Amino acid sequence: MLQGKNIILGISGGIAAYKAPLIVRLLRSAGASVKVVCTSNALEFTTKTTLETLSEYPVYADVFEKDFVHSTEHISITDWADLMIIAPATGNIIGKFAAGIADDALSTTYMAFNGPVFIAPAMNTKMWLSKAVQDNMLEMKNRQHMIIGPAEGDLACGYSGAGRMSQPEEILALINEYFSAEKLLDGKKVLISAGPTVENIDPVRFLSNYSTGKMGYAIAAECVRQGAEVILISGPVSIDAPAAVKLVSVKTALEMHQECVRYFANCDVAIMTAAVADYRPKDISDQKIKKSDAELSITFVKNPDILAELGSMKKKGQIVGGFALETENELENAKAKLHNKKADFIVMNSLRDENSAFGYDTNKISVIHASGEMKSFELMTKKEAAVAIIHETAALIK
Ligand code: CTP
Repeated sequence: MLQGKNIILGISGGIAAYKAPLIVRLLRSAGASVKVVCTSNALEFTTKTTLETLSEYPVYADVFEKDFVHSTEHISITDWADLMIIAPATGNIIGKFAAGIADDALSTTYMAFNGPVFIAPAMNTKMWLSKAVQDNMLEMKNRQHMIIGPAEGDLACGYSGAGRMSQPEEILALINEYFSAEKLLDGKKVLISAGPTVENIDPVRFLSNYSTGKMGYAIAAECVRQGAEVILISGPVSIDAPAAVKLVSVKTALEMHQECVRYFANCDVAIMTAAVADYRPKDISDQKIKKSDAELSITFVKNPDILAELGSMKKKGQIVGGFALETENELENAKAKLHNKKADFIVMNSLRDENSAFGYDTNKISVIHASGEMKSFELMTKKEAAVAIIHETAALIK
């Protein structure tokens, strides 16, 4: 089932490393090629000879080793691999990944790899539950890494609780599932707008909003996972674009409008998640506006409505979706947007729902289709909401 797949198995130094050779064997039996990268501590729990015999490749454990064909093995190996799994992942290696520390073979390889990453943590329960590890795990999730386990049970240190590495068979099943999952957007091109726009008032002041881009970026990541080519047109945000998307950074609504219109003709789907400023100052002052005793008024002019324009431009077969962020009369307003902007669907969310929309990692959404059909979901992570939205979108393409 993994025929032709190239997998890096990263092993860090925990007792569960003794199970790593079994992971190599299972992956090989399923048809994958496996290259092992490990920390020197990992080799206290398993041996290079075992791993090299099972993988039929040299184990990469020392950045300064001279025997490798490539002088920069951590780069060439990442060009080769389709997926990287770290099992077991200790609290220490997860901390290095999260902090961007690259001081050994495994952490440098991780830093250079921009494909799908699976992490199977294994450590003592107290370490697993520590704030440091939990904060770092949140970062791993934000990077869209797949987290496997840890399982609960008796631990080598005598404790019982969460911290055991998931069984090699379970790890193999999840990797199999990843590669065999039906790609809902295979061969499709998707345009996504995300984040806020920023409208200058003068050289030091601007008008913007609280959008963080999290929802749009999660949708972009899900589209990639589902096989789409993704163009992400984003206003300024402080999160990283998912691997493998084409990121087009913009600032103003006019720039976002220009880029969206430019890319839309060749796209199958457009999902507008950006919080676009509806107005911009009519004139941007060249100089800093000085304070005075008089009242200050700024004249605003309307920005183009990007979603409405794409809705009018769309040809047969193109799908256009948008968001409606409301504070009152949610359903009525969302339905009006769906109709006025000629969208195929609108994702409605409300600032009245707790832990939802701007800034949160969770969202409570309803998807309203042009057909009148509506699906409401419970509060879920933005990643889960992205999965739901892409399922709805894929159903429309069919
Ligand atoms: N949108 C857009 N261009 C704009 C304004 C909004 O593309 N100039 C898109 C948003 O990305 C979103 C949808 O339209 O997908 C609705 O945005 P929202 O801010 O909820 O509504 P508005 O149309 O701006 O209306 P209002 O501010 O009156 O609620």
